[in-house]
Amino acid sequence: MIEQTTMIGNFVLFGPPGSGKGTQATRLAQSLQLEHLSTGDLFRQAVQNKTPLGLKAKEYMNAGKLVPDDVIIPMVEERLLQLDSSQGFLLDGFPRTIPQAEQLDQFLKKQNRSINKVLWIDATDEICIERLCNRSSCSQCGAIYNAMTQPPKQENICDQCQSPLRVRDDDKSKTVAHRLKVYRQESAPLVEYYKSSHRLFWVDGSKNPEIVFKSLENML
Ligand code: AP5
Ligand code: MG
Repeated sequence: MIEQTTMIGNFVLFGPPGSGKGTQATRLAQSLQLEHLSTGDLFRQAVQNKTPLGLKAKEYMNAGKLVPDDVIIPMVEERLLQLDSSQGFLLDGFPRTIPQAEQLDQFLKKQNRSINKVLWIDATDEICIERLCNRSSCSQCGAIYNAMTQPPKQENICDQCQSPLRVRDDDKSKTVAHRLKVYRQESAPLVEYYKSSHRLFWVDGSKNPEIVFKSLENML
């Protein structure tokens, strides 16, 4: 484990739905003392609280579509402004389109900040589908489980806070298939965007969670 005393930078976890972004982001944020910002979690919170943002986002999420850039970009910028500027952050699920990536770079530049590395957790559609069909997560703390690979100790109960587990509405097989299609069409171009600025680092997301974690930690 790396002992963290100074800010090590700002990072993006990128990869298809089910590649393990949330699983790894939680561990990395703890281990490296990074602020974890998950756009999916922000939307799910807004949906649960029935806020105007949540009501707008819900229809896109349940259809497996991306929430429009003009909704998500201001939301992320507002969150980033709330962070202590001496604190490194880890974005999980953002950016996912070229306009999102370009605007993020421009926004951070104005604050003399930048994205230092983009960690691409890669996995095939087959692997992602199988994982998402077996996923559950805690309704309170958001801890992520998998019936096949990371089951809770007690069925449907969170190991960490004992709250009930739930299945995400967008993990229905038809929605999962659409989310993967959207990833290949709209998000995959980011690979070239970040490769061209030498910020992209590839990780084999098909390995077990511990191996993936060690690879990511070494890269950071
Ligand atoms: P979001 O919540 O970000 O969903 P996603 O990108 O589709 O990714 P997931 O959260 O489903 O998967 P993950 O990679 O985090 O995998 P996890 O660690 O859970 O976004 C949801 C929606 O919000 C979007 O569809 C869109 O509508 C909207 N949205 C969000 N951001 C947006 C943006 N920037 N622009 C526009 N719209 C946006 O792991 C999955 C399962 O696998 C778990 O069961 C886990 O236990 C298991 N697992 C993890 N790693 C491993 C491993 N190495 N081996 C075995 N099992 C593993
Ligand atoms: Mg996630």
